Amino acid sequence: MKKPWDGRFTENTEKTVEAFTSSVSFDRRLWKYDIQGSAAHVRMLKKQKIIPARDAELILRGLGEIAREIGEGKFKFREDLEDVHMNIEYALINRIGPAGGKLHTARSRNDQVALDIRLFLREEISGMIKLTRDLQRVFLALADRYKGVVMPGYTHLQRAQPVMLSHHLLAYFEMLERDRGRFGDCAARVNVLPLGSCALAGTSLPIDRKYVARLLGFAAVSENSIDAVSDRDFIIEFLSAASVLMLHLSRLSEELVLWSTEEFGFISLPDAYSTGSSIMPQKKNPDVPELVRGKAGRVCGNLMAMLVVLKGLPLAYNRDLQEDKEPLFDTVDTVKDSLSVLTKMMPKIKFNKTVMLKAAEGGFSTATDLAEYLAKKGLPFREAHNVTGRIVKYCIHKKKLLEDLTMDELKKYSGIFEKDVFDHLSITASVNRKTSLGGTAGKRVLQRIKDIKSTI
Ligand code: ARG
Repeated sequence: MKKPWDGRFTENTEKTVEAFTSSVSFDRRLWKYDIQGSAAHVRMLKKQKIIPARDAELILRGLGEIAREIGEGKFKFREDLEDVHMNIEYALINRIGPAGGKLHTARSRNDQVALDIRLFLREEISGMIKLTRDLQRVFLALADRYKGVVMPGYTHLQRAQPVMLSHHLLAYFEMLERDRGRFGDCAARVNVLPLGSCALAGTSLPIDRKYVARLLGFAAVSENSIDAVSDRDFIIEFLSAASVLMLHLSRLSEELVLWSTEEFGFISLPDAYSTGSSIMPQKKNPDVPELVRGKAGRVCGNLMAMLVVLKGLPLAYNRDLQEDKEPLFDTVDTVKDSLSVLTKMMPKIKFNKTVMLKAAEGGFSTATDLAEYLAKKGLPFREAHNVTGRIVKYCIHKKKLLEDLTMDELKKYSGIFEKDVFDHLSITASVNRKTSLGGTAGKRVLQRIKDIKSTI
């Protein structure tokens, strides 16, 4: 098969080399952006009188027809034509004749592919920002629904201090807020036009890059042609923002898996989102959160793959860069699927208020309140901590809860204790006293819910 670039070649490409170097099996996904970019390019060539207007019209019409064909699934992509760019260009020349050969004036696949990925990513990032928002709304609604429910807060996975379930749920809202921010920051750097950098040096033809940028809605034009065709930082940034998001979803998933165990019993997952075992009839497994947790590894792996591809690459374009697409596409699909499934599943989870409250009552989770009580009465906190620690040791020994202690027992540890200490030992009082900014007190959490509602 004749190649568009075979002028200087005396041998046909080896079949295995054709298969090895071809990217069309995956980069065909960029077809819409490739055509969009070509159309803008050709309008610029026409405006600048680099090609005759009637050739430009022919090209535009041809590209439109090809787009329709691909959209309808009637287009045949050929592996021997290497990639999506050459497949479309070849089809164009076949369709409209030699005028089609003018499309590639003042352009190289190096700036073309950089453009396609940027157009693709710009659209995908805005979709992901929306999907992230949807999941945030779910957390907000759950926080609203479970107002006033108390659960144990953990450190080291040991019961630490009681917190509001809504506060715990809104922690995920805040993580996702930063994730949206990271996607937004990345989108600003994606939104720069590389086209017109050509192979690496720019061109001697009188192109108008700013015009192309306007047509395609780019906020800026790249300043250095060598950089523009070499740069894949924007992909790394996206993959790292996606990895952080997936880490958040993975931590959430881990909690869902743990909380849905018989041992915890904090939640029950909807049947429709769980699976059974082929041998153990009693099983109901949390496969959805487990898979989200597993897929986080895959996305982090994709980030690692890109970092290593880029490391050590000399400027400017190298074919190694073709390896950017599969990790990128895989990440986009994985993140979208994970966000969507969690957004659908989360509202259907049942939170078991009684179990959570009971768990919060154990584990001496108001010990810090007791220490703070003493501190408020003037005892240096370090001493208050020690006194309370000894009281806890006594309780463990006597198999008692803090709230079961009598005044006489307390007085043995410190003369400071007065009757009001008993208001400090109940779980609800403990939670509601955490009124510091960002704390878990009911009224703080309600205020945060209100504030969020007024902004989204
Ligand atoms: N398929 C290539 C890629 O994805 C397109 C650019 C090829 N450029 C080249 N000079 N071989 O990177």
